[in-house]
Amino acid sequence: MADKDDLQESHNYYVDVPMKGEPFQLRGSNSLDWGMKNRLSKIFRPETGRTVMLAIDHGYFLGPTRGLERIDVTILPLLPYADTLMCTRGILRSTIPPTFTRGVVLRSSGGPSILKELSNEEIAVDIEDAIRLNVAALAVQVFVGGEYETKSIHNLTRLVDMGNRYGIPVLGVTAVGREMVRDAKYMRLATRICAELGASYVKTYYVSEGFETVTASCPVPIVIAGGKKVPELEALKMAYNAIQQGAAGVDMGRNIFQSEAPEAMIQAVGKIVHEGMTPEEAYEVYKTLKRG
Ligand code: 5RP
Repeated sequence: MADKDDLQESHNYYVDVPMKGEPFQLRGSNSLDWGMKNRLSKIFRPETGRTVMLAIDHGYFLGPTRGLERIDVTILPLLPYADTLMCTRGILRSTIPPTFTRGVVLRSSGGPSILKELSNEEIAVDIEDAIRLNVAALAVQVFVGGEYETKSIHNLTRLVDMGNRYGIPVLGVTAVGREMVRDAKYMRLATRICAELGASYVKTYYVSEGFETVTASCPVPIVIAGGKKVPELEALKMAYNAIQQGAAGVDMGRNIFQSEAPEAMIQAVGKIVHEGMTPEEAYEVYKTLKRG
């Protein structure tokens, strides 16, 4: 039985203190439900509103690509420096320790391998399994202008419906086909379509001209993919420029795990994203950490 002895009268109601109601800082996300905001806060650091996502989902169509041959050996040491991990459920269950408590963004579309038409994807996970895995978001590839454009957009809208039912955000990943021009005009089109159709945030590629128009015209946060491996300083410059021009972070894969010093590189990227370092300053951090 509950102890009723010595019950204290509550008396301090702070009647003069208005209750705080702070707006949620992420772009376009203020009207979302609590669970959705809580999950987004496992992706975007509340202190900075930005994220360093480590993307290691490439195997879902590429197989064991360079740097991801042994995720247990090469990627696990990077986890302490990632705000969020983007991966498939196969890698999550087989290789990632469940003690990883930051956000997991689950690759949720798939189907064709590199040998086939990549835009011909299907939804590749049940919402129940995503819930079971306690993921922070679902990621789906969207092929605007691609052969199976409508199908991939339908994958996005179905995942958004499923995610909304349970408070799980969806990341729309703009996939740029070889035949598409990678310019601001295309990125504006693709990112805006993802946001209009319900994505909570959108991943795209950085373009050197007019990227600020891409972030301005997309009503939800944008993160950039790293793209193909380039020299470290170049990748840091790209991350810096993207952040300066309105990106809320990076979802970087090859430029981290194919770096000569992946642990140093992910920390250097973090310095740009969260601490506002210039590329040159972050490159010094990279070189110092690389020397060990
Ligand atoms: C694969 C993806 C990757 O997660 C994305 O491209 C980021 O990786 P990278 O920085 O290597 O481009 O969506 O389809």
